[in-house]
Amino acid sequence: MEQLLRNFFLFLGKNRRLTVLAKKYGMMFGASRFVAGATLEGALKTIHELNAQGFSVTIDHLGEFVDNEREACDMADHCIQAIEAIADRGLDSQLSLKLTSMGLDIDRELAISNMHRILKVAQKRGVFITIDMEDEPHCQITLDIFKELRAEYDNIGTVVQAYLYRTVDDLQDLNPYHPNLRIVKGAYKEPPEVAFPDKRDVDENYKNLVTIHLLQGNYTAIATHDEAMIQFAKKLVAEHQVPKDRFEFQMLYGIRPERQKQIVEEGYKMRIYVPYGEDWYGYNMRRLAERPANVAFVLKGMLKR
Ligand code: FDA
Repeated sequence: MEQLLRNFFLFLGKNRRLTVLAKKYGMMFGASRFVAGATLEGALKTIHELNAQGFSVTIDHLGEFVDNEREACDMADHCIQAIEAIADRGLDSQLSLKLTSMGLDIDRELAISNMHRILKVAQKRGVFITIDMEDEPHCQITLDIFKELRAEYDNIGTVVQAYLYRTVDDLQDLNPYHPNLRIVKGAYKEPPEVAFPDKRDVDENYKNLVTIHLLQGNYTAIATHDEAMIQFAKKLVAEHQVPKDRFEFQMLYGIRPERQKQIVEEGYKMRIYVPYGEDWYGYNMRRLAERPANVAFVLKGMLKR
C-alpha cells in the first residue's frame, strides 16, 4: 500500500498540467509546511527566522520543467538576485540549484554558461552553491559539469546518492577535487539496474559513503532525517576526532523540526534546505511520496481551509 501511494505521488508530481494549474491557484495541499512561500522575499524572511534560531540555510528556487532558453536564463537571473539579497542582508545561507533548471536538457553549454554567471557573482559575494543531484540519467553529466566548474571555483559543491551502485566509485573519482559533498539516500524512482531496491542496502551504503568521504578529509554534509544515520555519523566523528568544521547535518525545511533544534542544541552545525517559488507543486508531491504518513497532515490542513 505504501509503495502504491509513493508511486501515485511521484506520478502526480511529474504531471505538467497539474503543475501549471497549481501555479495558477497558489499554494495548497499543505505545501506551506515544506515550502517557504512563493517569492524570494518570503524565503529571505524564513532564512532570517531560521538564522535567529541558530540554523544555517541553503535556499532552492523551485523550477520544474524549464524547457526553453529564456526560462533557463530567467532562472539563473533569479539565482543571482537571490545571492545578492543574501549577501546584502548578511544572511547565513547558501544556494542549491538543479542543472536542468539552468537549461541542461536544452543545451549543455547553456547550462554551463548560466552556471558561470551565477558562480562569478556568488564567489564575489561569498555565497556557496550546491548542485543538487537529479535522476540517474543526469548523474554522469552533472558530475562532469561539477568537475569542470570545480577546477575554476572553490565555492561549489554537489550531491551524491547512496541508492546508486555507482556512487562508491564516484567518490574515488571526485576525491582529487577535495569536494564539499552532500550525501543523501536519493529521492527519485530508479530501476534495480542502477539502484539498490532494498532500503537496508541503501542505508549500509549511506554509512559507507559518509565514512569514506569524511575519513578522506573532505567536507561532508550528512543530509538525512534518519536517526540511525545521524547516530552513526555522530559516533564516527567522535571516534575519529573529526573537527566540527569538517561536517554538518542537513535536513529539509518542515521535516523533523524538533530534531533539527536538538541537533543545534547538541552543538552541531545544522543546515536547513529551504525551497521556495511558484513551482512548489512537484516538490511537495515528492515529499508526500517519501512519507505517505504526511498525507494525514495534509488532509487535516485541507479540511481546515
Ligand atoms: P528515509 O527516507 O530512509 O527515512 C528514515 C526515517 O527518517 C523515517 O523512518 C522517519 O523517521 C524519518 N523521515 C524521513 N522522511 C521523513 C518525512 N518526510 N517526515 C518525517 N519523518 C521523516 N535527493 C536527491 O535525490 N537529490 C538531492 O539533491 C537531494 N537533496 C537533499 C538535500 C537535503 C538537505 C536533504 C535532507 C535531502 C535531499 N534529498 C535529495 C532527498 C533525499 O535523497 C531523501 O529522499 C530524503 O532525505 C529522505 O531520506 P532520509 O535519509 O531522510 O531517510
